[in-house]
Amino acid sequence: MRYRTLAKMTVTMQLAEEAVALSGDWTTAETRVFFAPGRANLLGAHMDYNGGWVMPVALSRGTCAAITPTKSGLLRLRSAQFPEEFISVPLKDLRPGRTQGWSAYAEGAIHVAMQAWGGLSGLDVALAADLPMAKGLSSSASVESVMVFALSHLLDVNPSVDEMIRLAHAAETEYVGVRCGILDQTAIFLAKENFVLRFDCTELTREYFPMDATKVLVAVMDTGVARELASSAFNARVAECTKALALVQERVPGIFCLRDVKRADLKAHADVLPPVLKRRVQHVVGEVERTEFGARALGRGDLAGFGASMTAAHDSLRDLFEVSTPELNAMVEAAVASPGCYGARLTGAGFGGCVVALVNPKDASGFESSVCEAYESNTGRSTKVQWFQPSGGPVECFMNP
Ligand code: GLA
Repeated sequence: MRYRTLAKMTVTMQLAEEAVALSGDWTTAETRVFFAPGRANLLGAHMDYNGGWVMPVALSRGTCAAITPTKSGLLRLRSAQFPEEFISVPLKDLRPGRTQGWSAYAEGAIHVAMQAWGGLSGLDVALAADLPMAKGLSSSASVESVMVFALSHLLDVNPSVDEMIRLAHAAETEYVGVRCGILDQTAIFLAKENFVLRFDCTELTREYFPMDATKVLVAVMDTGVARELASSAFNARVAECTKALALVQERVPGIFCLRDVKRADLKAHADVLPPVLKRRVQHVVGEVERTEFGARALGRGDLAGFGASMTAAHDSLRDLFEVSTPELNAMVEAAVASPGCYGARLTGAGFGGCVVALVNPKDASGFESSVCEAYESNTGRSTKVQWFQPSGGPVECFMNP
């Protein structure tokens, strides 16, 4: 079977075929196939839940779902990544906390979509993904997003993109229980091919900066060390920022989130913050400045300036927000010392996973051999470079006639 999308996404074609093959005996004339990408955030780390700016791109890898409506009253779920674990649960039994396993992301999206839109009498879902899991590339948000997007089509509800972002985000916060901000789902739904998004997580406004593939490529390198988002220190960082905000608010009027804190406020009122919380706020203040500077740099085509902000963001994540690891630091060092690299930083929450770098395409092969060799000689671990251009958001995959 051959599939096509409205966008030119060759990787998605194979994934669509994989999802349909997995759907197997569930497949009927009503089966439809959808794709949602993953993302890499270039600037604005841990800014979403602090009300700041984020600057992500979507990746041409993600999750395909082959979805078949039924009358069974059941949600039946298969995943190519977990072939041994088949889920069958009455739709009416979906509730937060029902499971912590891989199916929670799809279940959560179905649960919140049913609450918002109703109308499901049974659903068979086969999932196939080509994003590494738990590596900071939003594999979980791509599952939530593909499910919300698919259900909006199946139920013919035509929601706004903001509503789909809200529901996919609610799947993560309410059903899975991670207190994440809206970066991941926003990056996925608002993505545009060959553009970097700059999204204001307070005002919810957006602007786009072109990223021309003849001038710059997105390189993603896996450290080989996975991280556990829900069980990791992520929720602890959110709690620290909430605490720091409350302390600053006691002194400075008109502060609604940490992004409102200016460098001068921090200097004048640093004594109100214990050292750990001061470092967290210092990161946020610096990252606000870097997203402003980075946006101006991208606006004038200054890739070196933007890349320098990415590398400075990594230093801040390492020293002030304290979410990096020795492997992530080794990978960033290897990347920035390699030919053609404009800048590099950990992507996602941190604590393991991948590094994202911007690279001049002329130096792609020199970069690749240099970064792999340096990382291996410094850590004893091997790595590969995956190359991307910013890609588009969710799509339906249509069968070729
Ligand atoms: C994870 C969360 C996002 C965001 C990033 C850090 O990906 O899901 O909401 O907080 O970490 O920028």
